[in-house]
Amino acid sequence: MKQQTIGALINEYPFIIDFFQQNRLDVSGHENTTFAAFLAKLGEEELEDKAIDIQNLPGELESYITQMSDFLGIEKTNVVQSLIILPGQDKNGQAEDFEQLEIFPSQIVSIVGPTGSGKSRLLADIEWAAQGDTPTGRSIRINRSVPDSKWRYSPNNKLVAQLSQNMNFVMDISAGEFVKLHAESRMVQNPDEIAKEILESANRLAGEPFSSDTAVTNLSGGQSRALMIADTAILSSSPIVLIDEIENAGIDRRKALELLVSQDKIVLMATHDPLLALMADRRIVIRNGGIHAVLQTTPEEKDLLTDLDKIDAVMQNARQMLRMGDTLRREEIFA
Ligand SMILES: Nc1ncnc2c1ncn2[C@@H]1O[C@H](COP(=O)(O)OP(=O)(O)O)[C@@H](O)[C@H]1O
Ligand SMILES: [Mg+2]
Repeated sequence: MKQQTIGALINEYPFIIDFFQQNRLDVSGHENTTFAAFLAKLGEEELEDKAIDIQNLPGELESYITQMSDFLGIEKTNVVQSLIILPGQDKNGQAEDFEQLEIFPSQIVSIVGPTGSGKSRLLADIEWAAQGDTPTGRSIRINRSVPDSKWRYSPNNKLVAQLSQNMNFVMDISAGEFVKLHAESRMVQNPDEIAKEILESANRLAGEPFSSDTAVTNLSGGQSRALMIADTAILSSSPIVLIDEIENAGIDRRKALELLVSQDKIVLMATHDPLLALMADRRIVIRNGGIHAVLQTTPEEKDLLTDLDKIDAVMQNARQMLRMGDTLRREEIFA
């Protein structure tokens, strides 16, 4: 912490702005120096004026950060460097045949397999940070060790963001208010800007745009899914994102994934959709409740992705024309 520049600290712990204000320190323009260096540069007069104690202030800042982080439950959530899945057994009690599966930030792993095979179960094992205590007997390691139990029980300390098939909003507020409230609760410096960014991203993902005045209860399935994805990508500190079959949600799946991965998150996604499955670099094949194989996406598959994308565009065109009440015409669909 002591070596970090003021700018880096503000970035990581936006709430320290309050600390500077309380101590009447104007750090603007000094983002590239450390706090100690900043203090050292203050004139003697200023120090006396503000009754600043150079010796103790850096330590005070440090404990302020620790205390606030504890209070907000945000410590450590951003420092997941590795997620490991250790084998358990399938539905027949057969041991899974792999040593361990390690996933790093910015990686997407897809999960494929027939309905009922255990894809959602695997996601649940990760969400729960299973330690041999779920039906599969799998264990999860975070940063190559057994995760702290607070990750399981503390609602603030969310290790995992889960994007599931149905989003049910119960509050009767507008989309704009919803994201702003969330931004404020995360203590970001500029809640209005962040809220605007989330809404814009959500609208890029959603088939049909919505405005910030739209009540969340009036959002379509696709729109609310888009809102949750943008919100998770931009605002959530959860380093791991689990996605359970988003294909039918009426959103731009590709953009959604790109948005999530650009935020340095570990993404695991159960899917039946070839486009999504092949966007991952690895895919887990589930059979009868067990991890049957972990496949690397081949160059040929990546190549195929381009063709599948074109086919998908054709389907999207057809869908859009139907929606608009048009009569489908070959040359327009294949445009
Ligand atoms: N290894 C396992 N051992 C015991 N039960 C399992 C195992 N894997 C999955 N199941 C159970 O099988 C059922 C179907 O799994 P689920 O994850 O919902 O399938 P999917 O999401 O692929 O459709 C669930 O009740 C789940 O708890
Ligand atoms: Mg499922």
